Amino acid sequence: MSYTTQELIDKINDLKSRLSVTVVAHFYQRDEVFEVGDITGDSLELAKKTRDDNSEFVLFCGVGFMGQSVKVLSPEKRVVMPKIACCAMARMIDSIYFDDSVKAMEKAGIAKENILPITYINSNADVKAKVGQMGGMVCTSSNAKMIIETALKENKKILFVPDRCLGQNIADMMGLKSAVIGQSEDIASADIICYDGFCAVHQLFTVEDIEFYRKKYPGIKIAVHPECDPSICRKADFVGSTSQLIKYIAELPEDQKVAVGTEFNLVNRLRPKNTYVLSSTKPECPTMNETTLQDVYDTLKSIEDGEPLNEIEVDEDTLKWAKIALERMMAL
Ligand code: 13P
Ligand code: SF4
Repeated sequence: MSYTTQELIDKINDLKSRLSVTVVAHFYQRDEVFEVGDITGDSLELAKKTRDDNSEFVLFCGVGFMGQSVKVLSPEKRVVMPKIACCAMARMIDSIYFDDSVKAMEKAGIAKENILPITYINSNADVKAKVGQMGGMVCTSSNAKMIIETALKENKKILFVPDRCLGQNIADMMGLKSAVIGQSEDIASADIICYDGFCAVHQLFTVEDIEFYRKKYPGIKIAVHPECDPSICRKADFVGSTSQLIKYIAELPEDQKVAVGTEFNLVNRLRPKNTYVLSSTKPECPTMNETTLQDVYDTLKSIEDGEPLNEIEVDEDTLKWAKIALERMMAL
């Protein structure tokens, strides 16, 4: 049976009022899904707020690593996802590729005990567990600079996975040298050594896009997510996580034009009049967009029926080490 959007929203609200469920939604979710979220935010905010929530079930509308991080941080919670959509960047690395990266650094003359790994939260639990086992930690786009600053105090080489752009952008901001495994000849002299992963959605923004907007609207601000290529971030007026972008734009004068380089659903929800999408190609994250209102309803209904759909499970050993890596970040 198919329902209208309003009927689905009413049914979802009715189920929410009867069940011990908190609906969590990332900023990149479709508008109608985002609107039924009890907790919304960027990756870090969602991890923190959900950990402090008391419902038995968390219904997570986002991508796989996000729901998995909730389960890892709070194993007692039952986490379900309307769609277990895997972030394409997170899919670029697994524990084997992680080990290969460590080996590449050893081959370049860096001893294993001198490597401190940091994984962007956009990675699966097996990679977080590897990082935890080596004394490393997780970061998100909103705290990456602070986490790397803290990590560097150990006087070790940073292995940054999986997003080379975030690693390179933080190195740029801090005046440090970065290198990419497999791309750079000399990785041993770099402070931050990055795995060669990336977000295809954030690769859509080009220097030509920035030049186009600057020419068309002199005085326009360019605000981008740090998953964009370093050539873009260097030319931007502001670089920040999804929450930081929202705050930056909200604080601009009403008549200030701004072109934004991040996922379409978020940009589209911002001040529509003076806000532009920094790309001629619609920057939609296919996996974030997989979750529909019907999926949210079906998943809530499955909880009511006692057979929850898509429940997240993480094996004990992986959970233990991934939790250590995530909690090191939370403690900071
Ligand atoms: P935020 O941590 O800024 O929410 O980003 C998550 C993400 O997947 C960006 O592509
Ligand atoms: Fe992953 Fe990119 Fe989608 Fe973010 S926008 S969830 S990094 S694929």
